[in-house]
Amino acid sequence: MPASEGPASEGSASEGSASEGSASDLIVVGVDGSDPSKEALRWAVRQAHATQAPLRAVMCWHELNPDAWLPHVPERSDYATLIAEELRHAVKGAVGDNPPVAIEQVVMKGQSAPTLLQAAKEAGLLVVGSRGRGGFTGLLLGSVSAYLASHTPCPLVIVPHKARS
Ligand SMILES: Nc1ncnc2c1ncn2[C@@H]1O[C@H](COP(=O)(O)OP(=O)(O)OP(=O)(O)O)[C@@H](O)[C@H]1O
Ligand SMILES: [Mg+2]
Repeated sequence: MPASEGPASEGSASEGSASEGSASDLIVVGVDGSDPSKEALRWAVRQAHATQAPLRAVMCWHELNPDAWLPHVPERSDYATLIAEELRHAVKGAVGDNPPVAIEQVVMKGQSAPTLLQAAKEAGLLVVGSRGRGGFTGLLLGSVSAYLASHTPCPLVIVPHKARS
């Protein structure tokens, strides 16, 4: 299945299958490439390691308004590939080449909050950062985290990040 029609696994140095455990064990972590989301991923890796749960890192994207940061405006057909590469880059930047657990990497097309909710339907735990790539300073929670806090179908961990100036 093409990455643009996700969920679809993306190969990487840390690739693995989150289908090895039962669906209720699955930990899903939202990664938008921001430092807070990398902190969330590190927390999720520790939790997955401690509980032997499968771990899936999800990056959501939208053609008209990509939520993940991109270095340039790509051709429409390039989005899925670029987002997959961005996710690989973010995972590597957060946990290096040899994390203690396998991290399945999935890109999903759609607006961040509802798409993460969809991903969470398969999960026993959803993990996100308190903030992401958004530009508003001073907010404790970004709009995606806030939406998930009131709509999540499974337990949610919001990993705090020190306030930005
Ligand atoms: N596109 C995305 N793909 C995957 N996870 C995401 C995405 N966007 C946000 N998240 C998750 O949600 C967390 C909080 O991000 P959020 O977007 O709520 O904050 P923000 O970007 O600071 O605010 P806003 O987007 O409202 O301006 C991130 O740390 C990440 O875990
Ligand atoms: Mg955001």
